Amino acid sequence: MRRKLIAGNWKMNGSLAANAALLNGIKADLGQPACAVAVCVPAPYFAQCKAALAGTSVAWGGQDLSVHESGAYTGEVSGAMLRDFECTYVVVGHSERRTYHGESNELVAQKTGSAIKAGLTPIVCVGESLAEREAGQTEAVVGAQIDTVLAALDVDDVARIVVAYEPVWAIGTGKTATPEMAQDVHAMLRAKLASRNAAAAESVQILYGGSMKPDNARELLAMPDIDGGLIGGASLKAADFLAIIKAA
Ligand code: PGA
Repeated sequence: MRRKLIAGNWKMNGSLAANAALLNGIKADLGQPACAVAVCVPAPYFAQCKAALAGTSVAWGGQDLSVHESGAYTGEVSGAMLRDFECTYVVVGHSERRTYHGESNELVAQKTGSAIKAGLTPIVCVGESLAEREAGQTEAVVGAQIDTVLAALDVDDVARIVVAYEPVWAIGTGKTATPEMAQDVHAMLRAKLASRNAAAAESVQILYGGSMKPDNARELLAMPDIDGGLIGGASLKAADFLAIIKAA
């Protein structure tokens, strides 16, 4: 049985004061969650998360990392720096980075390798645009995204990733994939994982992301290949995030 993972993606939101209120709200009502829980936060807040979350059942992580280990790369943050603040996870290849920063499948594959090398668990994001879905290209686009990552990974490292299927048209739009639409893509992703490492495919968590909310989380999370959620907007409100954690 795969344990579910509910990971918040705060994106470029927060402040010391707002984060303190959010983290306190989460901790106050979390209890003993049945699923794994994490928040992926802007880099300046790693220290705050470490101070607030060490010893709790909430892990923390980043939203991107450099492919380089150190050196003259102004503005970049390395995997080792994330580990210095005891980050567990790092989001890799989010569609906003692919779109606004031109991240290619090849770069996302490299970042996945860099994260593993640094001792982080990469949450590798894949997903098609609305135009691609309407053109019947979902499987080809998402398939190429995951294949590029899998081809670059050592076989034994396949078990060390988390995958997040995030249809671009569902991110921040209030539109969600139906549970069946998401399940179809998740099953395809698991078959891709299995073709590289059959044993690992059984254990890798495949999250759904894109307007997951308290009122649709339960039916999405009931699908056999949906192992959790990558939550944007709803992770910024303690009550909503907690409700999704309860649904898992
Ligand atoms: P959303 O974002 O939940 O606000 O749609 C999800 C994501 O981009 O990870």
